[in-house]
Amino acid sequence: MAALGRASSLLSLLPLLLVPAAGAGGARWRGEGTSPHLRSIFLGRCAEYSSLLSPELRDKNCTAIWEAFKVVLDKDPCSVFPSDYELFISLSRHSIPRDKSLFWENNHLLVTSYAENARRFMPLCDVLYGRIGDFLSWCRQENASGLDYRSCPTSEDCENNPVDSYWKMASMQYSRDSTGVIHVMLNGSEPKGAYPVKGFFADFEIPYLQKDKITRIEIWVMHEIGRPKVESCGEGSVKILEERLEKMGFQYRCINDHLPVKLLMCVDHSTHPDCALNSAVTSTRREAPPLCAEHGASLFIPFLVVLASVIQP
Ligand SMILES: *[C@@H]1O[C@H](CO)[C@@H](O)[C@H](O)[C@H]1NC(C)=O
Ligand SMILES: *[C@@H]1O[C@H](CO)[C@@H](O)[C@H](O)[C@H]1NC(C)=O
Ligand SMILES: *[C@@H]1O[C@H](CO)[C@@H](O)[C@H](O)[C@H]1NC(C)=O
Repeated sequence: MAALGRASSLLSLLPLLLVPAAGAGGARWRGEGTSPHLRSIFLGRCAEYSSLLSPELRDKNCTAIWEAFKVVLDKDPCSVFPSDYELFISLSRHSIPRDKSLFWENNHLLVTSYAENARRFMPLCDVLYGRIGDFLSWCRQENASGLDYRSCPTSEDCENNPVDSYWKMASMQYSRDSTGVIHVMLNGSEPKGAYPVKGFFADFEIPYLQKDKITRIEIWVMHEIGRPKVESCGEGSVKILEERLEKMGFQYRCINDHLPVKLLMCVDHSTHPDCALNSAVTSTRREAPPLCAEHGASLFIPFLVVLASVIQP
């Protein structure tokens, strides 16, 4: 679970008693072991981000960023604190465009594809310091130098483990740097609730939002196509979140199945009835000239408006 990065491992704090004593096959810890080729992936991601994706960051020194990071690889795997990443964050930090922040829980892959490498939104995993660790795991062996490739601790093993402390630090920084409209994507099909009341968003992001720099918060509750709707806006844990934001004095809005994201989900369920475009759309579409034609853009917008009015639940 730790390998899935932020928002996975904290969630498992509670069922401590139900979990088997140690990982299968005699592994020491419950989490994924150190990712193979950690250093190469780290440096490659850093170089790609700073030279290709975001050339304004070309002055970032990826070697220096790696050196700041790798001090945690010499530490006991249960004694790595968020503050151990301070230098790493300060070297890799950069600004987040206004209105482009996208927070989330239980939606990692959907967020990644919707954000489109920061072209559409900039979730933490599309910020340099979040991109570098996305889907990776790392820790030193317990009583020896060298990395542990078999397993690494999760929050169930010990609170101050290298991966959770990294995401705590990254989440706090991301929140402090977020401005304008804040977006939050939640999973309304998650049986444990769309808004984990103990989790990275609840504990390491909401408390660090800079209220005077935020215009409003928009919550999107997405439901899996063709699966039961466990929670929607105004229900269960989503209601808890809404009440919390209200009490904090934020302006907020909650939207079920935000259409642009739903359209993306429908790419994988195009024959499901929830994704069907009804005959009104089909006929509109038939009358419209090819979308890529010279004046396509001006015709495409009304098409989307019709599409939106039809597909909206
Ligand atoms: C990048 O950082 C490394 C390690 O701190 C240092 O040796 C190197 O000179 C730096 N490179 C540049 C171009 O500043
Ligand atoms: C939403 O939660 C359900 C239930 O846990 C899960 O199967 C699904 O993959 C999640 N959706 C996304 C986009 O991660
Ligand atoms: C590390 O050392 C401690 C204390 O001596 C011991 O309890 C623990 O089992 C050791 N762990 C491993 C993986 O050898």
